Amino acid sequence: MTTHVRTRVAIIGAGPAGLLLSHLLAADGIESVVIDQRSREEIETTIRAGILEQGTVDLLVDSGASDRVLTVGNRHDGIELRFEGEGHRIDFPSLVGRAVWLYPQHEVLKDLVAARIAGGQDLRLGVTAERVEDATTDHPRVIATGPDGEELVIEADFVVGADGSRSVARAAVTGSSTGGYFREYPFAWFGILCEAPPSSEELIYSRSDEGFALISQRSATVQRMYFQCDVDDNTERYSEAQLWDELQKRVPGTELKQGTIFQRDILRFRSFVAHKVLEGRVALIGDAAHTVPPTGAKGMNLAIADVVVLTAALRALLLEGDDRLVQAFPETALQRIWKAQHFSWWMTSMLHVAPGASEFDRLRQIGELRSVVESEAGKTYLAEAYTGWPLAGRS
Ligand code: PHB
Repeated sequence: MTTHVRTRVAIIGAGPAGLLLSHLLAADGIESVVIDQRSREEIETTIRAGILEQGTVDLLVDSGASDRVLTVGNRHDGIELRFEGEGHRIDFPSLVGRAVWLYPQHEVLKDLVAARIAGGQDLRLGVTAERVEDATTDHPRVIATGPDGEELVIEADFVVGADGSRSVARAAVTGSSTGGYFREYPFAWFGILCEAPPSSEELIYSRSDEGFALISQRSATVQRMYFQCDVDDNTERYSEAQLWDELQKRVPGTELKQGTIFQRDILRFRSFVAHKVLEGRVALIGDAAHTVPPTGAKGMNLAIADVVVLTAALRALLLEGDDRLVQAFPETALQRIWKAQHFSWWMTSMLHVAPGASEFDRLRQIGELRSVVESEAGKTYLAEAYTGWPLAGRS
């Protein structure tokens, strides 16, 4: 049996991008259907990075999607760049008048799911998108499979692929499920969650001869830390003592406060931008359109910047019949996407030690770090990119 549903915007993926888009569209009276193959629990517990740009926070608060970000989240006015055993603070407010917030992605998702359910959103979980059809007509469709194997066809005025790095919608836009520009990195991150007090009030991004480490936080009693590892490393290879050893030797000069490690994971990453992000009436946003290495903390923020641009475009198309902003969507979104790609690649290459790196590479990298921390211009670029460029149509 096939169920047919008709809506204005069909959104594949209930991640931050898909849910925020439905939230902002609803505020303009534009109805949407959101589908995702995961359950609510899976969506809300997927552990992801935690830094929100100032503009992302302002948007979540102003749109009524989250006020908890201001109470549960923590404002961070800077980060520390650490190399050669010394820390160098980058003070965001004095450099660019902005800050960031540490508020993990799963908290954002809890807020967005709650807001969408309270708003009566047609949110269908356990529904797997199979393919997108008729992209270049006025009525693109999503063909999906429901929780009991039944077919669901969603006919819409516009389809949005917000379905992550393994996007199903991508094929309808780029012509293949993988089509895009990408860069692989010869290292990965080993992440831990531990029960311990914070080792530092702000994030520490550390370059050492042993490789990169990031000291982040979750709360007064839970900390998140990462160290550079091999792409084919495995989580069980290390004892707890060895993990602390690996972390500690990558942050010389800071004594880490240790505690029970209760979660370990390996993050493999790459830089990716789809060849196309729009075909007819189908657009890609978030990880479906691009992924960045986590070193610049840009992933979720970039997804949200896409949403801002697409919301304005869909408003013009669906309320006024004007498709010019939709046509301009790729150019507008891609300018920010490539700036964020550059920043994420730059932070990654400046702070990690590539296998086989020479003494030239090591000294050049330290020269690069010095030219950032010893220069107002260098620090300002980092602060501007890290706290986020202004969002389209917002200050
Ligand atoms: C995190 O807290 O998980 C985190 C923070 C900053 C990053 C990456 C991850 O750049």
